[in-house]
Amino acid sequence: MSASPAAGARAHSGPSSDFIEKHRAQNPSSRTILVTGATAGIGLAVANHLLASPAQHLLILAGRKVDVLNELAANNPDRVITRPGDMADLEYVEHVLRDIDLVGRLDALVLNHGTLGASLRIVDTAVDEWERTFRINVSSYVALVRSALPLLRTTKGRIVFTSSGAASNAYSSWGAYGASKAAINHLAMTLKNEEPDVIAVSVRPGVVDTAMQVDIREKYLQNMDEQDQAKFIGAKRDGKLLPPEKPGHVIAELAVRAGNELSGLFLR
Ligand SMILES: NC(=O)c1ccc[n+]([C@@H]2O[C@H](COP(=O)([O-])OP(=O)(O)OC[C@H]3O[C@@H](n4cnc5c(N)ncnc54)[C@H](OP(=O)(O)O)[C@@H]3O)[C@@H](O)[C@H]2O)c1
Repeated sequence: MSASPAAGARAHSGPSSDFIEKHRAQNPSSRTILVTGATAGIGLAVANHLLASPAQHLLILAGRKVDVLNELAANNPDRVITRPGDMADLEYVEHVLRDIDLVGRLDALVLNHGTLGASLRIVDTAVDEWERTFRINVSSYVALVRSALPLLRTTKGRIVFTSSGAASNAYSSWGAYGASKAAINHLAMTLKNEEPDVIAVSVRPGVVDTAMQVDIREKYLQNMDEQDQAKFIGAKRDGKLLPPEKPGHVIAELAVRAGNELSGLFLR
């Protein structure tokens, strides 16, 4: 198995092809799954849920925090391949799957990484900033889907996108973020029509207690409308934030067992 030079960080190349073949033969329920944004919050909860499964899944994990990826690989050396890098770098993205030998099999993508972007009102936002948010939240998703489709067609695989309520509710100063999440919902709908052998679903996880919510409360509040500020401050104060494990477990289970009837849907 060869590893690509991903954004200057060393990837953990994971188990050998021989090991993977034997592992799959011995664990027929084992699935091979890419999880992005696996270094924190919801994505880390997805990865931990899949790693804890008795099915002994094999995971390809992506994110920029190399120390977190290394720890996941050290704790699960035979079942984790790491692909550190920045999803804003589309050259890296093109190599995430291409440079590893998956021994002919990929069962699911959990495309979960995301950024709120600069969180500025439209009048104050440089067009470049919208482009960067879309590159991370949309274009990298399209590139990963494209490179995975040939294998996902043969496994009748699944794609789960982490979307957001902001896809259908417009919050002032979240224009680029909300539009990018609406775009991935549309991507799921289009995949349903174009790829009958692949199940694609989009999930809004709720308001979840992760670094993204800390950023909203500590960095981005001033550009939001008053009622939205109150909503996010109140959710934290009143203990209404969901633990990341809650949506994380649902997303992980969808990656393993989502049925055809869910394809193209935006699930809460
Ligand atoms: N928290 C909420 O209330 C909420 C609500 C609706 C939707 N969401 C969505 O849930 C998803 C996960 O967010 P979270 O709440 O778990 O936040 P988080 O704890 O901040 O995690 C974000 C993840 O995305 C990765 N990421 C961000 N930018 C990246 C980049 N440029 N390149 C590679 N990886 C990148 C981060 O990894 P590195 O830092 O290691 O790169 C991290 O693993 C996002 O798509 C977000 O939009 C969250």
